[in-house]
Amino acid sequence: MEGPVPDLSEHAAACADRLRDADRVLLASHIDADGLTSAGIASLALERAEIPFETVFCRQLDERAIADIAATDYDTVLFTDFGSGQLDIIAEHEAAGDFHPVIADHHQPADGVETEHHLNPLRFGLDGATELSGAGASYVLARALEPDGGDNRDLAALAVVGAVGDMQDTNGTLTGANEGIVEEGVAAGVVEEGTDLRIYGRQTRALPKLLQYATDVRIPGISNNEAGAIEFLTELDVPCRDDDGEWKRWVDLTGDQRQTLASALIRRAIASGVPARRIDDLVGTTYVLSEEQEGTELRDVSEFSTLLNATARYDRGDVGLAVCLGDRDRALDRARRLLRNHRKNLSNGLQWVKEHGVTVEENLQWFDAGDEIRETIVGIVAGMAVGTDATRNGIPVLAFAENEDGDVKVSSRGSYVMVRNGLDLSVVMREASRAVGGDGGGHNVAAGATIPNGTVAEFIAEADRIVGEQLE
Ligand code: C5P
Ligand code: C5P
Ligand code: C5P
Ligand code: ZN
Repeated sequence: MEGPVPDLSEHAAACADRLRDADRVLLASHIDADGLTSAGIASLALERAEIPFETVFCRQLDERAIADIAATDYDTVLFTDFGSGQLDIIAEHEAAGDFHPVIADHHQPADGVETEHHLNPLRFGLDGATELSGAGASYVLARALEPDGGDNRDLAALAVVGAVGDMQDTNGTLTGANEGIVEEGVAAGVVEEGTDLRIYGRQTRALPKLLQYATDVRIPGISNNEAGAIEFLTELDVPCRDDDGEWKRWVDLTGDQRQTLASALIRRAIASGVPARRIDDLVGTTYVLSEEQEGTELRDVSEFSTLLNATARYDRGDVGLAVCLGDRDRALDRARRLLRNHRKNLSNGLQWVKEHGVTVEENLQWFDAGDEIRETIVGIVAGMAVGTDATRNGIPVLAFAENEDGDVKVSSRGSYVMVRNGLDLSVVMREASRAVGGDGGGHNVAAGATIPNGTVAEFIAEADRIVGEQLE
């Protein structure tokens, strides 16, 4: 077993040994698509290694959540998709003998501390925002946990869902260690890699909806325009409806028909003056889970990850985890119902931002949704608002929402162009939040924080100053 990243795998072997030494393990994970797939991978690996465990999910791994974990009588805690950012707090509990931590994460580690069993791509010269996700780190650990004669490479399917759920493929393809995981998944027969139209909903959306809702690359007369999308499809020499007159989905078309449609879409985009750089984004690498049924959300890694967010971000991580573990029955039905609700909330959230607009400071822009957008999805909405005309280009977006404790949740989103110019939102969120008595962290391109009620203005001023220094 070498795994996709040899150094990381070597350290994973030590983490695996520590887990094997435990009588039982508490598995704690994050409530989003990457966190759920991390938990799915870790659960299956622990089960196959015959290590007893129990699973818990946390919204945010803050001091209180860690204290709750310390209060259980588990001696060994496996943190997945979080833990690095809270290494200082975790190390204190370890020193106090509360528990022994094993961490598989990809967030920016807290400064000045280290623990023995800490698996994080950033410690091995890899980028945690693009080259390996929490699910990827958990996958590397799962490979190290393989019992003699075992093969955990089938878990690469979930690792790819986690990476795409954290938007690690926004440059058009997965790279770095993620690419190694894809190769292992292909070899194990669970992942297929291809070149295809990169529009959300290829498996489940009827063609007019697929095109109408495809707003990442806006095509005048088709995006956000139902009649326009229908007209475009009707004029094509491709049978877009079945014998009953129902609209087909992308997956229902043959390879040739897809090619015809994609070419026509690109010609239309060029004719409408869409910049070449954006047109390039229309086609790219796509990942399909070979063992999932065609035409379902689970077949396409991007739709799968949205389905998982639809559970975890609404306190139903148990439902999403059950889907990850193979429930294609009750849990999947429930997840689909939650998905309809999630979609409605995302669409309403984006609409709210468009109507209310953002406030532009010197180096950043922000909106405060109060209780209009759920704090657990305000980051996704902020990400969807970047690149639309609701926001300005070239500076990051900060989003605020009330959380259930009456504190304020902050989400921030930038772009890789800004990161190349020096932006690191994990530092901005950590330093600006600590300055007002809160805490935060994350990745260079996307990060978050929680701050006390009443400190928003001070926080914005502090964040604006730090972003200004970074982008200087
Ligand atoms: O906690 P976690 O690592 O899972 O969250 C990463 C977040 O960063 C996701 O919500 C993802 O959508 C966001 N992200 C982004 N743009 C990127 C990379 C990640 O908005 N280019
Ligand atoms: O929910 P998640 O962060 O996985 O969504 C990833 C992306 O998928 C969103 O940023 C959005 O562009 C797209 N999406 C969409 N329609 C939905 C849900 C997600 O276009 N209903
Ligand atoms: O919640 P949101 O999607 O905005 O989170 C973006 C990133 O920031 C995630 O990776 C999340 O884990 C991280 N974050 C954090 N500390 C917080 C809030 C968010 O590290 N208090
Ligand atoms: Zn993650």
